[in-house]
Amino acid sequence: MKQDMIVILDLGSHENTVLARAIRALGVYSEIYPHDITVEELKKLSNVKGIIINGGPCNIVDGVAIDVNPSIYEAGIPVMAAGHDKATCAVKLPQFTDDIEAIKAAVKPFVFETCKAEANWNMTNFVNDQIELVRRQVGDRKVLLALSGGVDSSVVAALLLKAIGNNLVCVHVNHGLMRKGESEDVVEMFGNQLKANLIYVDVTDRFLTKLEGVEDPEQKRKIIGGEFIRVFEEEARKLDGIDFLGQGTIYPDIVESGTKTAKMVKSHHNVGGLPEDLQFELVEPLRQLFKDEVRACGLELGLPYEMVYRQPFPGPGLGVRCLGAITRDRLEAVRESDAILREEFQLAGLDKKVWQYFTVVPDFKSVGVRDNARSFEWPVIIRAVNTIDAMTATIEQVEWPVLMKITDRILKEVKHVNRVCYDMSPKPNATIEWE
Ligand code: XMP
Repeated sequence: MKQDMIVILDLGSHENTVLARAIRALGVYSEIYPHDITVEELKKLSNVKGIIINGGPCNIVDGVAIDVNPSIYEAGIPVMAAGHDKATCAVKLPQFTDDIEAIKAAVKPFVFETCKAEANWNMTNFVNDQIELVRRQVGDRKVLLALSGGVDSSVVAALLLKAIGNNLVCVHVNHGLMRKGESEDVVEMFGNQLKANLIYVDVTDRFLTKLEGVEDPEQKRKIIGGEFIRVFEEEARKLDGIDFLGQGTIYPDIVESGTKTAKMVKSHHNVGGLPEDLQFELVEPLRQLFKDEVRACGLELGLPYEMVYRQPFPGPGLGVRCLGAITRDRLEAVRESDAILREEFQLAGLDKKVWQYFTVVPDFKSVGVRDNARSFEWPVIIRAVNTIDAMTATIEQVEWPVLMKITDRILKEVKHVNRVCYDMSPKPNATIEWE
């Protein structure tokens, strides 16, 4: 289905993504393009009903004045640009605001009255379109997908499964640094319930052996990332006749790779460092979606709420929360305390409120008392933060009774732990993770 589109030309405004989301929330599809797009390039895009130049003429980016191609105004497409006499419509957009409602109200007359765009962008249409496009791209060939169980890979899996069924081959690598029950959930949901073609690889021992004695956080990340690719590559080599690699690339990844710098918007062709002879063609059905739209897409595909509204989880997993050199007993303490924290946050309704929450176990011990005797055991640190974009973050002011219940349970249920602390630090000066 051809959907109408409003094109936003990027003059370095930080509000472009908010603007695109606001237009999509009105039911009209919108994409962001570099300011110097030519009329010819613009005409190759289908169903462009209007152009919004956000930021006015002659914007200064990095000390250089930039403006759109003047011929854009003669392309026969309505242009909305504050302060330009050739614009069809000159509305000053609310600046420096994340208020989607205010932006929606400001652009609504332009989108519907001036451009006569039709509100035909919604998740049902999106999913149907993508299924059709994937079938056209892939035919009866096979797609390989690394299914971590995170939001993006889960939604891609559900979509590809609908489109090509068993020609999708999912590989779930359990590196032993997953949260409690996480790998089991992936197998249950995709293997048992959705009957996906799922290969489950448990490489816990291999990862923990590689990580033995490695203290440096960057070194740990490198080992985890590198080993992950090697395992995935080994699995890929065992399979025959795979032509495509499914990826959970989403719109922010694409926008960030090609706006202000005036390059054409292009996909991140990042196959995660796979070797030359394993270069697949990419299938990226979510590449047009913002994160909240990815979640809506997941719900549309029938995935459970808890799966599509999961909190973010770093690629290196619990490996960066078991500080310093990872040991099995401390890793177990992180996993068990994290499970308790998640359970109690859910009971207190905090799981829907707090952006990210987890526990950390440092690599030092403190003195305590257990069964009337001196103990020398690990502390557990609780971290709960809120943020818009993960660049800065504030701490959640969790109520004392909730914290005390969590503390009580951790001290009773988690082995080798005698102390629980709450991390009060915002980002900056701290980061969200400890490593
Ligand atoms: P920091 O610790 O930098 O984290 O404040 C910001 C956000 O990014 C997540 N994070 C990662 N995500 N791979 C990921 O996919 C990683 O290596 C990684 N490190 C940090 C972190 O959980 C937080 O949400």
